[in-house]
Amino acid sequence: MFERVDYYAGDPILGLVDKFVADSNPNKVNLGIGIYYDEDSKLPVLECVKTAEQRIADPISPRPYLPMAGLPGHRLACQNLLFGKDAAVLQEKRVATIATLGGSGALKVGAEFIHEWFPASKCYVSDPTWSNHIAIFEGSDVEVGTYPYYDTATSSIKFDEMLAFIAKLNKHDVVLLHPCCHNPTGMDLTHAQWDELLDIMKQRELIAFMDIAYQGFGQDMDHDAYAIRKAVALGLPVFVSNSFSKNLSLYGERVGGLSVVCPTAEEAERVFGQLNYAVRRIYTSPPSHGGRVVDIVMNDEALHQQWVGEVYGMRDRIKAMRLKLKSVLEANVPARNFDYITKQNGMFSFTGLTPKQIERLQTEFGVYIVSNSRMCMAGLNVNNVDYVANAMAEVLKD
Ligand code: LMR
Repeated sequence: MFERVDYYAGDPILGLVDKFVADSNPNKVNLGIGIYYDEDSKLPVLECVKTAEQRIADPISPRPYLPMAGLPGHRLACQNLLFGKDAAVLQEKRVATIATLGGSGALKVGAEFIHEWFPASKCYVSDPTWSNHIAIFEGSDVEVGTYPYYDTATSSIKFDEMLAFIAKLNKHDVVLLHPCCHNPTGMDLTHAQWDELLDIMKQRELIAFMDIAYQGFGQDMDHDAYAIRKAVALGLPVFVSNSFSKNLSLYGERVGGLSVVCPTAEEAERVFGQLNYAVRRIYTSPPSHGGRVVDIVMNDEALHQQWVGEVYGMRDRIKAMRLKLKSVLEANVPARNFDYITKQNGMFSFTGLTPKQIERLQTEFGVYIVSNSRMCMAGLNVNNVDYVANAMAEVLKD
């Protein structure tokens, strides 16, 4: 009966975790999945989250269904963080926001909305992008294309090619963008480049779909949201999917949000209704625990400040690891340029290693990076960075 069901080869990122767990190499290092580990290779529980958890646990309260859109405090947290607390667009009630099941859930609901209400629109993603972007939009029957983005040979953004491509898209086509900490390359546009790109998108009447999963890991909370706020200022239609997985270290709670910026409050209300309806059809309403943590941490002034400090602590540790990795590699492989490592932002470094080199890293050294050559810097620490750098240096001699 099910013999016609296609075989699933597994996810290129999640599948690596299973392989890593099964590896018996005592020196193994997981630099595949985008997860922040601390100096002791442990997944941190943020101090602000511990406080929130204590408040939730005492007293233990009933668990009703949440509204389809999630907790109001969770939605407010998304809006304040993305658009700025005093943003005019929020006061004008032009943003429809729902809480979602992580960033993936936001992308899925957004993709369903695009399919339903903009059926002729295609979605363009950067080449390369996070593999699930393509899978999610195609899974909602939205046709996906790619725009030029990264040149591995020069480790830089093909900005002119990107602009020329975007300038030819059709009205209401969707351009999926990473406002900060591009996944997988770590290479972000400058503010001047964002200005130029968004101007063209405005002229072409394109839809900006901003996926922000690493806010705070690039420069700072506001700087990382620049592209979103600029697109809003220009009056573009903007979808924003955001994730709290990384910056609250709440991966398993699946907490994120989807915001749609509309020209008027009346349209925002219609859009909000349809987002609710999409949620109802897929999973009815989000679970409550993670949403309550988000609500407490983000809307309590003192906890919010503590949270920002904790995120910047993670950001700075990753930056220190970038410097260290680069210096060991430069010493061991002097003929090669490793400047890209410190130019890139966020958790990822796109190493440009060949499939054979990636395979050798895995089988000979137990160092796991994604098959597209993406390495997660947040898995490095003072105890393993020399080992990883030396392993990289070894395979680069090939
Ligand atoms: C990643 O890119 O590694 C993370 O966003 C985890 C995932 O779901 O792929």
